[in-house]
Amino acid sequence: MVIIGSDHTGVNLKKQIIECLKINHITYKDVTDYNTQDGDDYPDIANIICRNVLKDVNNLGIAICGTGIGISIACNKIHGIRAAVCTDEYMAQMSRADNNANVLCLGSRTELAKDKEKIENIVNAFLEGFFEGGRHERRLDKIRQIEIQGGKSYDS
Ligand code: RB5
Repeated sequence: MVIIGSDHTGVNLKKQIIECLKINHITYKDVTDYNTQDGDDYPDIANIICRNVLKDVNNLGIAICGTGIGISIACNKIHGIRAAVCTDEYMAQMSRADNNANVLCLGSRTELAKDKEKIENIVNAFLEGFFEGGRHERRLDKIRQIEIQGGKSYDS
């Protein structure tokens, strides 16, 4: 299932992506299906999206704030989340292939967000992508190690 949510800046972009998910018959859950307020905070949105993503290993998230950056920083603090801000199809595809990303972050106030087709292509590339494993698994293990250490750096 796709878990989608946005802060107040991203309501329209979220609705646009949901239309795209519906057309493609993709099951989704909008976890910010309420009137987001100007005063809402993207870490809260990141938290609810990630909590839902982590309920099933096959879930993927789409998280939207003004730039995609704030919400990605917050998402990546949560153990088990690999959030990627993607501004083109290649990044979206490779975030799945190399990083096994489970949350796509988008910026609603960016130039990119004005281009409906590009956004849809990025979303589709992310949802259709797949993890290649192999040497990438070793690298993800190192990220997991950082999580296990409570986010502390290690001697490499
Ligand atoms: C909200 O004003 C804005 O700061 C937020 O959407 C996001 O862009 C932060 O990174």
